[in-house]
Amino acid sequence: MKTDAPKVIKLSEYKKPDYLVETIDLVLHLDNTKTLVQSTMKIKRNTDEVTPLILNGEELVLKSIKLNNETYTDYVHSTENHSLTLNKVPAEFTLMIENEINPEANKTLDGLYKSGTIFCTQNEPEGFRRITFYVDRPDNMAKFTTKIVADKKLYPILLSNGNPIARGDLEGGKHFVTWEDPFKKPAYLYALVAGDLGVIKDTFKTKSGRNVALEIYCDKGNENKCHHAMESLKKSMKWDEDRFGLEYDLDIYMIVAVDAFNMGAMENKGLNIFNSAYVLADQKSATDTNFYGIESVIGHEYFHNWTGNRITCRDWFQLTLKEGLTVFRDQEFSADMNSRSVERIQSVMGLRAAQFAEDAGPTSHPIKPATYMEINNFYTATIYEKGAEVIRMIQTLLGVDGFRKGMDKYFELFDGQAVRTEDFIHAMSVANNNFDFTQFKNWYGQNGTPLLKATSKYDEAAKRFTLTLTQTLPANAPKDAKAYHMPVRVGLIDSTGKDIASKVLELKETTQDFVFENITSKPIASVNREFSAPVKLTTDLTFDEQLFLMAHDSDSFNRFEAAQVVSTKLILDLIEDAKAKRTFELNSKYVEAFGKILADNTIDEAFKALSMSIPGEGVLHQEQAEIAYPETEAVRTFVKKTLATAHQDTLVKLYKSIEQKEYKLDPKSMGQRDLKNKCLDLLSYVEGGKYNSLAFDHFKAATNMTDEIGALTTIVHANSVHKDEALKAFYDKWKHETLVMQKWLTVQASASDESTYDAILKLEKDAVYDRTIPNLVRALLGQFVATNKVQFNHPSGRGYKLIADRLLELDKLNPQVASRLASGFKDFKRTPKVLQDLMRPELERIIKTDGLSKNVYEIVSKILG
Ligand code: ARG
Ligand code: ZN
Repeated sequence: MKTDAPKVIKLSEYKKPDYLVETIDLVLHLDNTKTLVQSTMKIKRNTDEVTPLILNGEELVLKSIKLNNETYTDYVHSTENHSLTLNKVPAEFTLMIENEINPEANKTLDGLYKSGTIFCTQNEPEGFRRITFYVDRPDNMAKFTTKIVADKKLYPILLSNGNPIARGDLEGGKHFVTWEDPFKKPAYLYALVAGDLGVIKDTFKTKSGRNVALEIYCDKGNENKCHHAMESLKKSMKWDEDRFGLEYDLDIYMIVAVDAFNMGAMENKGLNIFNSAYVLADQKSATDTNFYGIESVIGHEYFHNWTGNRITCRDWFQLTLKEGLTVFRDQEFSADMNSRSVERIQSVMGLRAAQFAEDAGPTSHPIKPATYMEINNFYTATIYEKGAEVIRMIQTLLGVDGFRKGMDKYFELFDGQAVRTEDFIHAMSVANNNFDFTQFKNWYGQNGTPLLKATSKYDEAAKRFTLTLTQTLPANAPKDAKAYHMPVRVGLIDSTGKDIASKVLELKETTQDFVFENITSKPIASVNREFSAPVKLTTDLTFDEQLFLMAHDSDSFNRFEAAQVVSTKLILDLIEDAKAKRTFELNSKYVEAFGKILADNTIDEAFKALSMSIPGEGVLHQEQAEIAYPETEAVRTFVKKTLATAHQDTLVKLYKSIEQKEYKLDPKSMGQRDLKNKCLDLLSYVEGGKYNSLAFDHFKAATNMTDEIGALTTIVHANSVHKDEALKAFYDKWKHETLVMQKWLTVQASASDESTYDAILKLEKDAVYDRTIPNLVRALLGQFVATNKVQFNHPSGRGYKLIADRLLELDKLNPQVASRLASGFKDFKRTPKVLQDLMRPELERIIKTDGLSKNVYEIVSKILG
């Protein structure tokens, strides 16, 4: 941590490592405060020059160094630079280092730390240097063995990567297990776990007939909540064989659930470590969204075994090589396991809410950034979700079979290596008749969301339809930015709603005409079907034509999209009315169209529930040069109230028509629960608390968490008379389950009324809250910043001050969590001047703080710009 601007790391300055570690044998003597680490490495020089060996190391107490078995003294250990320099070393040698670490004091949750009573690790991207001195970069791939020594009673389970090859008892009540990972890997994939854990076991037979042992570990007592994760794992293994021909390569696959975890999960070779939120679930305590998320994250980490582990990144600028590709793979998996159209709509909603906002703001970066200060700040929606869209475009351009050929080629050429995004593109190209990706590569290096305009002309006499596509680069794109090569999936629909043409157009120029011949009547164009390119689309369609698409488009994404386009436009106009203090009125054709969707029995429940979504505040804020926080919220409320009031009978009928005799987890049942809860929520907007008791009854009668928390959210956000009673009942019932308490905190932190600020101060003191657990901080403060725009941007400035205070406290413990909170200030430049004047001093106070982490420094300096 330092006060002056941290060093900027540049992709252009990449140099291969001077030394490579061939093998590393570790012995760890686990102890809460004094863990002894003994490392024996075979090291080889990797350059022609004779250079010093520089090892990374952070927060390590150096005990001894031996080179080829002799005590070595010609070194400099700089705790400030986090390095250990060995001035003179031979071309090939064995290095033995002993150092000590303090896992209990490690609240960064990076390296080796304790989550409750469990020892665990998180080493991506640069955590291993907090365990021992090492060439800690992904292009240094070594074979690892690990001997773990620990107290047998406290830590009966000792795990690391690969296969267990020895175990035994030692004196003093200790025991050991030795693990060997036969695959070379970068240190970021190294993992260790020790604890008194519960476990469930299963097996998977691979396509070549090998039996793989599957084990999921958790806190004792939670074993029954691991079954969905286990089912998801088996489905993932089967899916990767079926879709990509990829078979698992070790005899054992382990997953461990821990409560203290910075991110979602980690793909360590053979030993995934997960945030317990992405493992533990049962009907009573987890929502359908949780179940869905578990399946997808279990899949994600499993798929990394090939896209990430077998082929890894040369350097961290290549992060999207593994993350974008693996998100694409997990999205495809979810689509195949559930409903493809629902999955696509949800992914795009997520992309818009998080990635589009990021890409338009101060931390906007290309999926392959050219520079960073702190790599942990680049585990972003852009690297992950936009990265996945870029992979999806490649598949759209090559076709599913062509893409598969490209994947096969990628493994054929690069298995076992640490490579670049260019290498992936190369494989895709050579497997597909040297497909030309030259212009497509612009997606990797340019930031900002492109704008796409579609206009059309119909020549009745010539029976010719011309679609003109124009791409514009956004204002924040680089000066020398070039046009994109983008696949635009288009359909033409006749007046009866039938598709008369459907194809993928390849836009390469700034403006291009696409001509359709033999079109006998004027069609409506449905553009960017399936959201084939991650752009902001505008069209020349009239309001009535949008309503037509909303009812008739064969592409379910664009049917959903038409409703979003229409409601976004109406809401933005109403916000202008609100700002000018004009009276509002909601377009009656829209109210009517909304009612038609509700009443249409041919639409399935999941899609109907999605179609009822009113564009989120964050998405609406993106469209405003100066963000009108209270007006945006007021208009959204007004729209919901108008729709609810107009259609209350239909909503009640719909609500009552859905009866679930037994709890099932299939897409149909999940869609039904979503729809039911959406109806309930909308009804809560009807004047006078008319449906308060309906919501409270729903709450009391709930037999699963989806209904229980759905109703609670409605009750709290509507400020119903039952609010306090419901919150208390929920607390009393669930106070011992931290994952459920996280939901309880979130519901309250996101309530947009004035009392929320005081509620947060009180909740921070509650026994269920613990600021060293990232999930709890995210549930309370993270939710407040991200979803409670009105209260965070309170005219008194108290929201800014609270978050700045907490962020600075947290930065001393866990810079990664602090820096995520810091990005909550990212709309600074677009907040009204009076609010900017309150926000600026807080941002300045943060950046001037002594010992600020580079994580927070990088984000806040970009926001202040
Ligand atoms: N590779 C992990 C995943 O996407 C994420 C790990 C990120 N960890 C971090 N500390 N930034 O599955
Ligand atoms: Zn990942």
